[in-house]
Amino acid sequence: METNKKVFSGVQPTGNVHLGNYLGAFRNWVALQDDYDAIYCIVDLHGMTVPYDPPEYRRTRLETAKVLLAIGVDPDRSLFYMQSQVPHHAELAWILGTITPTGVLNRMTQYKDKLATGAPANLGLYSYPVLMAADILLFRADLVPVGEDQKQHLEMTRDLAERFNNRFAEVFPIPEPLIPATAARVMSLTEPTAKMSKSDPADKSRILILDSADVIMKKVKSAVTDSEPTVRYDTEAKPGISNLLEIMAACTGRSIDDLVSEYHDAGYGRFKEAVAEAIIETLAPIKSAYERLDDREVARILQKGALDARTQAEVYQSEVRRAVGLDQM
Ligand code: AMP
Ligand code: TRP
Repeated sequence: METNKKVFSGVQPTGNVHLGNYLGAFRNWVALQDDYDAIYCIVDLHGMTVPYDPPEYRRTRLETAKVLLAIGVDPDRSLFYMQSQVPHHAELAWILGTITPTGVLNRMTQYKDKLATGAPANLGLYSYPVLMAADILLFRADLVPVGEDQKQHLEMTRDLAERFNNRFAEVFPIPEPLIPATAARVMSLTEPTAKMSKSDPADKSRILILDSADVIMKKVKSAVTDSEPTVRYDTEAKPGISNLLEIMAACTGRSIDDLVSEYHDAGYGRFKEAVAEAIIETLAPIKSAYERLDDREVARILQKGALDARTQAEVYQSEVRRAVGLDQM
């Protein structure tokens, strides 16, 4: 009999894993393994919904898996696998699609944002949130650690779960989002009113998890700020400095007030150096763990994860198939 609450989260293997991903989401993934049954999935079917290059995708899928292992996702304590290796995700997405109003999908801001940046409108991109709902509901997750940007998708997932339960049978628990108190939305270094993103064409806009210390120092030093040279937290008037304060607070565990009282009059140069050092210190152990990982061992871990996930998914999915009238004859 299972008693532990279940956590599920996913990441697209589209490369450029950055500090926002780490502070906003992955750091939580690692901590949650202690108290929950954790399931972490590299959502490689989601990653195909925008144009991509297959050979490059093969590389970034592996790189993403290695980054997560380096951060501390522990395959002995969590279910860790690639979405495409467990066909139940796509099957459940189809079933949920039959109860998803298109009007709801039309309101998804991530979809609209992606179209605005030039992604072609196709069915995969449009139904992205339905596949995400399937990911979460497949293993009956209770808790979903994500950054702020995924809140709307989570609300839709909760809605679909309720819709399904009312229409067919009480199958799905209603999942809760888990959004961190600090760094839920790490902003771009070059345009601090937009979130740090893996798809921003400007490399300097983000710190990559695998960036060297030198590169981190350079990127932070060139971060866009403002011309009033006091360090204080004001996201309206000083979005750049506020973002750096949030990042430093998240990296050091110190409060923003405490940082402001230390750096208020230090000047931007010295403050930025301190921020960069805090980031370097946070990422150094991850980078060295990454370098120690063996690709073949990682492939083996993923194969085992997929096998376990398929076995468990089969049991859960048979309940769904029964509820909707697709049980075996
Ligand atoms: P993605 O990079 O879109 O696959 O996102 C992976 C995870 O990182 C999700 O939980 C996102 O909510 C989170 N995330 C992405 N960008 C940021 C950001 N700039 N700040 C905080 N969390 C983020
Ligand atoms: N849409 C999420 C993102 O861009 C990735 C994702 C897919 C996900 N399926 C999920 C996150 C299930 C949490 C749970 O970050």
